[in-house]
Amino acid sequence: MAKKLLLRLTKIKKASYLSRAIRIVRENHLFVDGWMLNNWMDTPSNIERMVLCRCGKKAVAVGIVLKKQEYHGYPNTGIFVKPSHRRQGIGTKILKQLSKTKIPLKVAYGTTPSINFYDKYKKDLNLHILY
Ligand SMILES: CC(C)(COP(=O)(O)OP(=O)(O)OC[C@H]1O[C@@H](n2cnc3c(N)ncnc32)[C@H](O)[C@@H]1OP(=O)(O)O)[C@@H](O)C(=O)NCCC(=O)NCCS
Repeated sequence: MAKKLLLRLTKIKKASYLSRAIRIVRENHLFVDGWMLNNWMDTPSNIERMVLCRCGKKAVAVGIVLKKQEYHGYPNTGIFVKPSHRRQGIGTKILKQLSKTKIPLKVAYGTTPSINFYDKYKKDLNLHILY
C-alpha cells in the first residue's frame, strides 16, 4: 500500500509570516530558475496569497497568487512542487486553496506537466489560461 503523505498546507496571509515563508521557499529552491515565481517574491507587497506545503518538516511545494494587476495579459498564479513529490496530488491541493481567493486565477502553461495539470482543472476552478 502506498505510504500516506503527512502534508501540511499553510495559508500565509499575514505580512509577518510572508518574509519567513519566502525565505523557506528560496532556501529549499521551490521554483524553476528564471521563472516568474522567484521574481514575484522580490516584491512581497504584491502577493495576495501564498500557500506553503510541508511534508513532515520539509517544505516541498508552494503556490502564489498576486494581487489584482493593473495590466492585462499576464499570469498571476504560480505553483511549484519539488520533483520528488510530484504526481501525489500536492499541486491539486495547492491550486484548490489558491482558487478560494476572490481574484480570478490567470495561469500560463509552462512545461507539459503543467499543461495537463491546468487543463484538468480549468473548467471546475474557472482558470484563465493565457498562453
Ligand atoms: C505542474 C505541477 C505544479 C503539478 O504538480 P503535482 O503535484 O505533480 O500535480 P498533481 O499530482 O496534483 O496532478 C494533478 C493532475 O495533473 C496532471 N499532471 C500532473 N503532472 C503531470 C505529468 N507529469 N504528466 C501528465 N499529467 C500530469 C494529471 O492529470 C494529474 O492527475 P493524475 O495524477 O490523477 O493523473 C508540477 O509538475 C510542477 O511543479 N512543475 C514545475 C513548475 C510548473 O510548471 N508550474 C506550473 C506553471 S507556474
